[in-house]
Amino acid sequence: MALQSSILSYQDRGKWGKSSYRGNVSGHVIKDLLETYKPKKFVEVFSGGGTGKDVATDLGIENSVHLDLLNGWEALKDEMPVQSDLIFSHPPYWDIIDYATQRGSYDKDDLSNAMPTIRSSKS
Ligand SMILES: C[S@@+](CC[C@H](N)C(=O)[O-])C[C@H]1O[C@@H](n2cnc3c(N)ncnc32)[C@H](O)[C@@H]1O
Repeated sequence: MALQSSILSYQDRGKWGKSSYRGNVSGHVIKDLLETYKPKKFVEVFSGGGTGKDVATDLGIENSVHLDLLNGWEALKDEMPVQSDLIFSHPPYWDIIDYATQRGSYDKDDLSNAMPTIRSSKS
């Protein structure tokens, strides 16, 4: 459905991506954006549990790229590998979700880890 308003509310998160991935987004948000703006090339940054990729596949958008630390793209160092008509970004939630604990492995580039350090160095 095309977006009618900037306030979004859905009955459920939808079937796309992994609902078990901490901090996942509702695929309805991405679906509505894609149906409204109809990009020829779609890029998603911080793609996490695969919600955007599943929505793009469902809508038949073959030209989509999904980037995350999980597949080797590092937001603070890496360029965008392609140009696009629409970028959807769902960044980490400060230090609310500690992905190191979630995954059982520490990644120094995970922005969720860096946030507390940045905050404490300013206080
Ligand atoms: C809020 S989650 C995104 C969830 C996703 N939209 C979904 O529906 O599953 C934020 C993501 O940012 C990623 N991330 C954290 N630090 C990053 C970095 N430096 N570069 C790229 N991705 C990063 C994490 O791996 C995590 O998947």
